[in-house]
Amino acid sequence: MSFLAKSLARVKPSPTIAVTTKAGELKAAGKDVIGLGAGEPDFDTPDHIKAAAIAAINAGKTKYTAPDGIVELKQAICDKLKRDNGLTYTTAQVSVGAGGKQTLYNALMATLNEGDEVIIPAPYWVSYPDMVLLAGGTPVTAPAKAENDYKLTADELEAAITPKTKWLIFNSPSNPTGAGYTRSELKALTDVLMKHPHVWVMSDDMYEFLAYDGFEFCTPAEVEPELYERTLTCNGVSKAYAMTGWRIGYAAGPVELISAMRKIQSQSTSNPCTISQWAAVEALNGTHDFVATNNVIFKRRRDLVVKALNAIEGITCPTPEGAFYVYPSIAGLIGKTSEAGTLIDTDEAFATALLEETGVAVVFGAAFGLSPCFRVSYATSDEALTEACARIQKFCAALT
Ligand SMILES: Cc1ncc(COP(=O)(O)O)c(C=O)c1O
Repeated sequence: MSFLAKSLARVKPSPTIAVTTKAGELKAAGKDVIGLGAGEPDFDTPDHIKAAAIAAINAGKTKYTAPDGIVELKQAICDKLKRDNGLTYTTAQVSVGAGGKQTLYNALMATLNEGDEVIIPAPYWVSYPDMVLLAGGTPVTAPAKAENDYKLTADELEAAITPKTKWLIFNSPSNPTGAGYTRSELKALTDVLMKHPHVWVMSDDMYEFLAYDGFEFCTPAEVEPELYERTLTCNGVSKAYAMTGWRIGYAAGPVELISAMRKIQSQSTSNPCTISQWAAVEALNGTHDFVATNNVIFKRRRDLVVKALNAIEGITCPTPEGAFYVYPSIAGLIGKTSEAGTLIDTDEAFATALLEETGVAVVFGAAFGLSPCFRVSYATSDEALTEACARIQKFCAALT
């Protein structure tokens, strides 16, 4: 019998990290690799946020804090939720963790019993199903269609709900598709949830500020105020503020749930990094001017990639509303053979052949629960994206 816990057997290692590792190995071996796998902005953390962290260090703010965050940060989060989302929360309803990932995980750990189901619309962020499994629950995939720009419809949500459903995990704009739900599209889903009072919604708003073409972000508790009591509104500073390495995320919801999440965090990791918390106070309270500047660049890159990919026969790429990903379908390429003789029978085979034969690293769709597709992260330079798209085009043109 293995020394390791049985629960581990249910969980797979992150496929996005596997792609990054493979790309790194090829690079180290001297291959010219262009990585389009990264889930983080290529911009640096803004200077005023770094300065706040340095000031915190110099002021001796280097000790433990309350397990789920300093009150100054919780207040900044309450102010943000009021200002940007029209949601009223008190500091007792806020939990701060080491990244958005920890707060989502704490919430699942705090609520799931064996047999509890969690609906996860696909394509999904790779960590959702595994976090549900680690917490002892059962992930239920609800596939969204490419024709609907990868957004779940009311009927598809309704069909996934059972008496055992505990949560719907909602993510807009989405990783991996960039799809953002309009108010009416989200209202159609919240209307379904209103008919099923036993289902709660965990809204992962991580990409809220990364939206283009005037897309108006909305979140479930705001769209349907009657869902407030069974919504956990989750967000963080990682993506919009280019702070992935600082590890600060947060969630706001009913006091009983937030207290349970605090209990878990207090007996596992304790408080998120004190210095990062002070930096996050500045991120939330300080200027947001850089967001608009960065978004001009992200939008330009999105348009560049969508246009280049749609020009390739066999690839169809919707134009997403936000985040920094696109999710093209390669349905038109399945069954073909690459120049080096690899049969492209799955999106994993496509991504592997693309990396080995052209040096372009993308993540295959099966990792996100919807095939045959791949994810491109366009959080890299225009030059790298142009070159990568040219290589993808050449690779596809040579398929027979
Ligand atoms: C949809 C989504 N939620 C949450 C996270 C986690 O963010 P953090 O780095 O703050 O843990 C990510 C990171 O990739 C993400 O894509």
